Amino acid sequence: MSGLSHINLITDDPIDLFSSWYENVKTCSTELTNVCCFSTISLDNKPRSRHVLLREYDKTGFIFMSDNRSRKSKEIAKDNSASVCIYWIYKNEINETIWRQIRIEGHVEELARDKVEQIYNDEPLYAKIRSHLCHQDAVVDWNQMKKQHDELLKKVEAKEISLAIPDHFVGYKVVPRWMEFYESKDSFIADRLEFIKNINDDTWKNQRLAA
Ligand SMILES: Cc1cc2nc3c(=O)[nH]c(=O)nc-3n(C[C@H](O)[C@H](O)[C@H](O)COP(=O)(O)O)c2cc1C
Repeated sequence: MSGLSHINLITDDPIDLFSSWYENVKTCSTELTNVCCFSTISLDNKPRSRHVLLREYDKTGFIFMSDNRSRKSKEIAKDNSASVCIYWIYKNEINETIWRQIRIEGHVEELARDKVEQIYNDEPLYAKIRSHLCHQDAVVDWNQMKKQHDELLKKVEAKEISLAIPDHFVGYKVVPRWMEFYESKDSFIADRLEFIKNINDDTWKNQRLAA
């Protein structure tokens, strides 16, 4: 059995297609659906990737949170070019196995402080503790860290300290200028749609690519 998958173009705006795919995987999958592979250019000009969690998105870009003392933050400060790659595999409403990939390329902007605070305030306790406890990318002694964690937790539970937002808690927005959608299902041959932004008028054009 063979056939061709077909991606339906919803509008000329790739964020509409992103929304439609994201809603579908959130409805159908029990797995974590907001994991993205985020790539930067290292300080010595090599590609470097790591996963981050997509927190929010809108027509202007894709938001994730981090620690501004991290390697990725130093890399973004030197060169804010970045790419994101998301992969989903799941069974849809009619039990077809769907493979989808979304690639995003663009630049990174730091989020405004009021938005960062809003996201921090909604963080669960463990994430707030992590922000206070962990200097991302620093070398640590696990036993020492566990001791500090338990002391911090005790103080929080006794209401001796509040976990106010630390300065190093930051948010980044990946602003897209190129996006690609890849879909395949069951034993069908994949389909791909590429979107390229015209930076003069912020409109998108798209074209179909062979798998
Ligand atoms: C599923 C998953 C989600 C993650 N989400 C984040 C995140 O949202 N922000 C973050 O800074 N690190 C996140 N991490 C950790 C990063 O992958 C990475 O280890 C860390 O940010 C340090 O990266 P850097 O040394 O390149 O700065 C996540 C890791 C995994 C496996």
